[in-house]
Amino acid sequence: MGKGRRGAALTLAAALTLALAPPGAGPAQTATGPARVPDQTPLVALTFDDGPRPATTERLLDGLALREVPATFFLIGCQLEGNGDLVREMKARGHQIGIHTFDHVKVAGLSRAEYDEQLGKTREALTAILGPGEWWFRPPYGLMDEETRARADSPLVLWSVDPEDWKDRDTERIVAAVTEQAQDGDIILLHDIYDSSVDAALRIVDTLLDRGFAFVTVEQLLALRGVEPEPGMTCIRFPFG
Ligand code: NI
Repeated sequence: MGKGRRGAALTLAAALTLALAPPGAGPAQTATGPARVPDQTPLVALTFDDGPRPATTERLLDGLALREVPATFFLIGCQLEGNGDLVREMKARGHQIGIHTFDHVKVAGLSRAEYDEQLGKTREALTAILGPGEWWFRPPYGLMDEETRARADSPLVLWSVDPEDWKDRDTERIVAAVTEQAQDGDIILLHDIYDSSVDAALRIVDTLLDRGFAFVTVEQLLALRGVEPEPGMTCIRFPFG
């Protein structure tokens, strides 16, 4: 946060320099880099919760890499152990990484100590894998209260398109639900822990690319829409409404 709009100002050379900077060098660890997207291009941000899960996340990363599409992953802290290589690969491929608590718990109603533990332990695990960084937060179930907003040290990322991919795990239905609904500025919620969702995600990407959409991380979506990320702000879609 506080870095302002990067999209216009950062050249490719500068972006490469940042990407190659050593751990601990600051923005290189946090920025997913500028999105090189022509003006007027409709944008969507794919987001994936509840990973990492090697069997499905790896296949998703490969599919996204083939299509050169970035996404945003909200990871569960207790699943990070043993998955360092997968998370480093995520980062290296330009995806944004965020926090989804350590144990996938509702944060509304947690004491300050419990809240700090859920986010702090996840932050520590991510830092051990990736070095220092800014990890935006998605509260499980999208549930939060005034205290969640007051305690937040990052934007709180919700979504505007939710095909409820966990419900029936029906790839056809999930693809249709998203592609019929998707509009410029949407944040799409999926879960990279189901094979059906990975299949659906890659078909959604192919369909929306054909329709002229560009895929960006949530961080890039805000930057391209001229929105300054603030702690505690709720991200649903940009433009909102
Ligand atoms: Ni979740």
